[in-house]
Amino acid sequence: MLHVTRSRFNVMKATAVAHPNVAFIKYWGRKNEILRLPTNGSISMNLDGLTTTTTVEFSPDYKEDSILIDEESKFDEAKRVIEHLDRIRKIAHIAFRAKVVSQNNFPSSTGLSSSASGFAALTVAGVKALGIELSEKELSILARQGSGSACRSILSGFVEWKDADTSEDSYAYTLFPSDYWDIVDIVAVVSTEKKEVPTSEGQKLAQTSPFFTVRSSHIKEKIQKAKKYIEEKRFEEFGELVEEEAIEMHAVMMTSHPSLLYLSQGTLEMMKLVTKWRKEGLPLYFTINTGQDIHLLCERKNVDSIVAKVKEVSQVKKIFVSHPGEGAKLIEKHLF
Ligand code: PMV
Repeated sequence: MLHVTRSRFNVMKATAVAHPNVAFIKYWGRKNEILRLPTNGSISMNLDGLTTTTTVEFSPDYKEDSILIDEESKFDEAKRVIEHLDRIRKIAHIAFRAKVVSQNNFPSSTGLSSSASGFAALTVAGVKALGIELSEKELSILARQGSGSACRSILSGFVEWKDADTSEDSYAYTLFPSDYWDIVDIVAVVSTEKKEVPTSEGQKLAQTSPFFTVRSSHIKEKIQKAKKYIEEKRFEEFGELVEEEAIEMHAVMMTSHPSLLYLSQGTLEMMKLVTKWRKEGLPLYFTINTGQDIHLLCERKNVDSIVAKVKEVSQVKKIFVSHPGEGAKLIEKHLF
């Protein structure tokens, strides 16, 4: 049970900004579909160059929920948002319908985790709009039920989402603040085409891969290593671990039944270039989520030379540079 203290009843509209996060050790597979409890813990960093802004307004005048994401109203997305509004309404014991407007500054459904920032912003704005006071931990638990990785976007900096068997224990917390380590995430957008299988559906197939058990057998060790490398700022060992982890997750995806292939020609080209540039002496590593757009990780001192090289790649349509970002927070300016 979430602990609820109601503050101002008259506040019915709020706006929040959240960043998506990039997982270094990934969440792929769930042990509880309804509560979205992952089969393993994960480690991530919020991306300050990518943002989702969401305004939520509840009103007795609204006859139904209306959801507008990037100026579009799509049935599947709206359904998930409404289910999340229901969770928030249940905590507040308020039945008013809502208007939700959400805007991303980056392409959605291409592997950049817009559902993490989306559900984190929705949770923070929705809770505030209904005048509920929740702790960061409670916000993380609530956001997780909308989209697993959203629980990590509630928190600032470098974050761990712990493996747990109950909803109350499955939340994210900050391992190190955003200014702890100056590493940079460069997103190379190789296509804005939307993925065919949404992440949420793909997650259900994880355990059909024969390699899922192999992955599970060493995932705890990987998490320990990731934490240690971040703590000791050992970039090259960290990068190797993160890149191998992304390849392992995609191997599980490709060998699931049915098979999932989220990589495109542009992704493969970038993967090969990263290996080539590294051999030439540039320390950088990649990671990829459910979509073709690829994340390149480097130290701050190398950002400019890497961005210059990435700009030369014909498949790359757009670049986003992010430093470790803050958690989801309220802002004054509403979208409507
Ligand atoms: O939270 P979801 O259901 O969008 O799943 C996130 C899945 C990955 O991005 C591939 C991995 C992760 O940990 O973010």
